Amino acid sequence: MLVLGIETSCDETSVALARLDGAQAHIEDQIIASQIEQHRPFGGVVPEVAVRQHLQNLPRMTRELLERNRLRAEEVDGIGVTRGPGLASSLMIGLSFAKALALAAKKPWIGVNHLEGHMFSPFLAQNRLPEKSHVALIVSGGHTLLLHARRMDSFWRYEKLGTTLDDAAGEAFDKAAKMLGLDYPGGPQIEKWAAKGRADAIDFPRGMAGSGDLNFSFSGLKTAVRIYIGKHPEVLSDEQKKADVCASFQQAVIDALVQKTRAACRQARTDGADCFTVSGGVSCNRALRQAMETMAREENVECFVAPPALSTDNAAMIAVVAGVKLLAGETSSWDVDIDPNLKLETAS
Ligand code: KG4
Ligand code: ZN
Repeated sequence: MLVLGIETSCDETSVALARLDGAQAHIEDQIIASQIEQHRPFGGVVPEVAVRQHLQNLPRMTRELLERNRLRAEEVDGIGVTRGPGLASSLMIGLSFAKALALAAKKPWIGVNHLEGHMFSPFLAQNRLPEKSHVALIVSGGHTLLLHARRMDSFWRYEKLGTTLDDAAGEAFDKAAKMLGLDYPGGPQIEKWAAKGRADAIDFPRGMAGSGDLNFSFSGLKTAVRIYIGKHPEVLSDEQKKADVCASFQQAVIDALVQKTRAACRQARTDGADCFTVSGGVSCNRALRQAMETMAREENVECFVAPPALSTDNAAMIAVVAGVKLLAGETSSWDVDIDPNLKLETAS
């Protein structure tokens, strides 16, 4: 089964071809056009700019993907597209384009939950599909979500174990970076500066550490960084002090993510799950990956982290989820629309 995937939920335009065969999933080809340069002057994603970029890039990229694989749209088995969650205007471009292409090629289309794509992405680097029930941590600019993914025949059901009560982890990275005068997106910048700093220099709060549940909170940490900079304005000009703030901030986020993921693994283990995944843009962070791998060894569970190329938004993960649904006989009808607040718990 060969599926064309389309992803335009935020500020990355991506198209990909994925081939599914039994428990194997192979990414045949992928093109990703990042819009970071266009949004950087504004310090964040500007929906209007994102829409124009998607409109300009998507038709050209789709033609290029098909041409360089010597394919016509009529030769794929289906077209998968992100239908939520994400920016409404960005989602609309991808979904309308996918429907039009499916109509012209007389092929089925499948609306995919973007978060389900992230859930599958750690397995794709090994050309395979998830098989067993497991814990999934999705950490991106818009989400911080701990799930118990359960396999029900050919479908997956997702139980929400915990989520952020305020900012997403990536959002906290972006906001802390802005306060420190670093460029957008903040995550990679903070990671770069953190490498030169001491993680124990400042004792920033670990949000909800004693809450007894699996939820997160990063707004207290963000406020603590703001107060610290207010009291010590020299961190903005002193390179070593700035690096210490970045390292201490990064450590506080990592500690919170590891603590709750560890607790989720212990809880899910009683239910037979002995592995967990980490995906989404923040999982590009090397210190986070290392901390998660250490925790996995301590807990004697398996850990799959999406490789950086598949951590951030990409169409390959969307094509693969669409392929799994197509194989299970699921397609979307023409009246299915975008849903900017689509929940994964309702995705099948
Ligand atoms: O998954 P993604 O590409 O887009 C969303 O769906 O949100 O994630 C983007 C987020 C941004 O907040 C960015 O700052 C963060 O991921 N990020 C990182 C790193 N690389 C990207 N955060 C921490 N460390 C990184 N190396
Ligand atoms: Zn994403």
